Amino acid sequence: MKILAIESSCDETAAAVVENGRKVLSSVIDTQIETHALYGGVVPEIASRRHMEAVVRVTEKALADARLDKRALDAVAATCAPGLIGALLVGANFGKALAFSLQKPFVPVHHIRGHIAAVYLTYPELAPPFLTLIASGGHSQIVLVRDYTDFEILGGTRDDAAGEAFDKVARVLGVGYPGGPKIDKLAQCGDKTRYTLPNSHIKDAPLDFSFSGLKTAVINLAHNAQQKGEALDRESLAATFCDAVVQTLVPRLELAVRETGMKHVVCAGGVAANSFLRAALQDMAKRMDAKLYLPPLSLCGDNAAMIGSQAYYEYLAGHIGQTAQNAFATAGISENICEKR
Ligand code: KG4
Ligand code: ZN
Repeated sequence: MKILAIESSCDETAAAVVENGRKVLSSVIDTQIETHALYGGVVPEIASRRHMEAVVRVTEKALADARLDKRALDAVAATCAPGLIGALLVGANFGKALAFSLQKPFVPVHHIRGHIAAVYLTYPELAPPFLTLIASGGHSQIVLVRDYTDFEILGGTRDDAAGEAFDKVARVLGVGYPGGPKIDKLAQCGDKTRYTLPNSHIKDAPLDFSFSGLKTAVINLAHNAQQKGEALDRESLAATFCDAVVQTLVPRLELAVRETGMKHVVCAGGVAANSFLRAALQDMAKRMDAKLYLPPLSLCGDNAAMIGSQAYYEYLAGHIGQTAQNAFATAGISENICEKR
């Protein structure tokens, strides 16, 4: 079964053709990063307009790269939640209209379910159940993936997502947007013991965590140094910050491994590209005698191939969008977005 998938939830317009949820026939990503970098972050209306301009082009390229006529598609899928609503509406409406014109099923996909599915494209043998750490720009959660379309949230952030914290800290350190990769690079030569940053603990919720205190601590540290006229060791602050994020996420995941007895562990989302997090997860897996599944860097960030993979399993579960299917800025990973109103 060949599915054309469209992704437009944030600042990447992407289209891909994926066969049976596992084989990428083509994957095209048109990034808007350069445009938003001028403003230090994503400007929602500009993102929507850029999606409008790019969506037909990336779709035609995805079909051409897959050497496929659109009439040979079995279904069309699009990210319908969560994300910037104006951005989501472009891809969702385009996907729905294309499916309608081809008289094929339309499959709405939850963006975070898609991030998890990136590992299906990388590890042909991997199947649920497994434990997942989601770390993206908008989400940070520990999720038990019981089945391809059955998710249980075990813990998560009480405030900011990990990626959000990276982007904010990057702005404070003046390294620009998008922050995650830049902080990662800056931290490579830093000393992670040079500064002291807090680690959150949520009373009676050992799998929950928080990043806002950490973010504020970095902001205060930078401002204090500025007021006192002291030079900031940006490399070391970046390294200390990366370590603090790792020390927030990895011990919770380790606890979840112990509590659930799950020996298959996945990490997904943009922050899964972080080199310190990847190394710490490898160590944890070794320590816990667990098997770790990390997407390659090319599939950590937003792309449509992961959406095409998840769409296959949504289709098998009968999650087909009706003609009135809508898009949603927020939706829990456990929600069936076909039934959401
Ligand atoms: O999953 P994603 O591409 O978009 C969302 O669904 O939100 O994640 C984007 C986030 C951004 O906050 C970006 O700064 C972060 O992932 N990110 C990283 C790295 N690469 C991307 N964070 C830390 N280290 C990285 N190497
Ligand atoms: Zn994403």
